Amino acid sequence: MGTLKRGQRGLKKLIAEPAENQAKLMEMLISMEAASLIAMTAKPPEPKDLSETDLALWHVGYRQTLTNLLGTILTMEDATLRTDAKALAAAYKELGKTKKAGHEEYQQD
Ligand code: HEM
Repeated sequence: MGTLKRGQRGLKKLIAEPAENQAKLMEMLISMEAASLIAMTAKPPEPKDLSETDLALWHVGYRQTLTNLLGTILTMEDATLRTDAKALAAAYKELGKTKKAGHEEYQQD
């Protein structure tokens, strides 16, 4: 998650000028790609009051949300290679939304 945090912050400064920042953007996005895969296979702290079935669904949802995050990161890699600032800005917004959804649903207080 620390790598995701550094990545998300770093991206913000770079996405407006993808041609100038292409190498840096790719480096950051690739490290976030790896971090999202690691988070996806990690076992997050579980909520306490769920039935066995609901807990199984909770884990599926956690994984699915990180799959969405990974998809957005790959979209940003593609937009970087095409130097498409508009597509990068849209995907960056999506990244923030998925992060928010992931934390609301899966981060325990
Ligand atoms: C760009 C996207 C994201 C960023 C920048 C981010 C950042 C962070 C940070 C800084 C923390 C607290 C420190 C840490 O535990 O390392 C954290 C915790 C956490 N995040 Fe994320 N996150 C992102 C996406 C997600 C998504 C999509 C999910 C769920 C599907 C998620 C689930 C969690 C959980 C469960 C914790 C608590 C971990 C624990 O208590 O061990 N995050 N995240």
